[in-house]
Amino acid sequence: MALLLPLLSYCFLMLISIISPPVTYAFNVSTLSFDDAYSPLFGDGNLIRSSDGKSVRLLLDRFTGSGFISSDLYNHGLFSASIKLPSDYTAGIVVAFYTSNGDIFEKTHDELDFEFLGNIEGKEWRVQTNVYGNGSVSRGREERYLLWFDPSREFHQYSILWTEKNIIFYIDEVPIREVVRSEAMGGDYPSKPMSLYATIWDGSSWATSGGRYKVDYKYAPFVSEFKDLVIQGCAVDPIQQIPTSSPNCHQPSAAEDEDYAVVTPERRLAMRKFRQKYMTYSYCYDVLRYPVPPPECVLIPSEQRRFKETGHLKFGSHHHHGKSKRRSRIPSSSDGQSAM
Ligand SMILES: *[C@@H]1O[C@H](CO)[C@@H](O)[C@H](O)[C@H]1NC(C)=O
Ligand SMILES: *[C@@H]1O[C@H](CO)[C@@H](O)[C@H](O)[C@H]1NC(C)=O
Repeated sequence: MALLLPLLSYCFLMLISIISPPVTYAFNVSTLSFDDAYSPLFGDGNLIRSSDGKSVRLLLDRFTGSGFISSDLYNHGLFSASIKLPSDYTAGIVVAFYTSNGDIFEKTHDELDFEFLGNIEGKEWRVQTNVYGNGSVSRGREERYLLWFDPSREFHQYSILWTEKNIIFYIDEVPIREVVRSEAMGGDYPSKPMSLYATIWDGSSWATSGGRYKVDYKYAPFVSEFKDLVIQGCAVDPIQQIPTSSPNCHQPSAAEDEDYAVVTPERRLAMRKFRQKYMTYSYCYDVLRYPVPPPECVLIPSEQRRFKETGHLKFGSHHHHGKSKRRSRIPSSSDGQSAM
């Protein structure tokens, strides 16, 4: 009898893993263990490594959030992780997966963000991407989306590709956003080495409906999980910008020759479809903020018609209230990581 229960639950777990298909990894890249490439950033007690070192959980409780940072800085690369977000009541919670050099270049920092914004029970998570170049925090380049799946149910792969020529945000194998570098962007295009960060924190004052819904610690701890950690890039010394030893660094062009740096016609179609269906805000259509859209904006008339002059979608119930604000992702840090 004593054996039966564990056996049954084992069978049950096996059954579950057969039923839910594994998320196939979109790119041919090798993963890194946590200890090989990352260090705790804050809230150490709420950062829980798996015994094999291949995955890590970041918790938020009433005392602190938590986060980790790559041990090196990289000049360009593919930064990727499979992430599973907290479920149920997640209002006010922010999970962020991003590259930044704000700790080193306080006034001229670069940043590329995936930010996951929690929601009240029964409503879906929303995702924001953002691009900052050379400290232009007044020129946030936010886009917001809904997802075609529930990101708290299973792992999905989120990737940030940054090359000298373009930036692509991927969810699984779908490119959801591409920023093509142009002369006109100048310093607004991120150009200095960045670290990779992952954090969970209390964004009560703005994350859900502009702060209307706060984190409810009755449901704590809130658990986010990260695995399949990928960094394909060239580790460099941030000041001298010379390469340090890095197994995945294929000089000189590194990431830009890789398959994932190219938006093939097939990928472009998938991106177009995603944006038509799931994008709920774009700074490019926010004429109140940008009477003249920034130079990298590609305005698509059929798409533009669906957005108000605030940059928010005209129809549908997914409106976001409140003003955009910069908030620190790391409550104790003063350099103020970005967020809208
Ligand atoms: C994946 O990459 C490795 C090494 O970079 C290469 O040897 C292998 O052939 C690649 N596999 C596929 C399916 O492209
Ligand atoms: C970044 O900003 C600094 C300070 O404003 C400026 O001196 C520098 O030229 C800028 N870099 C680029 C690449 O525009």
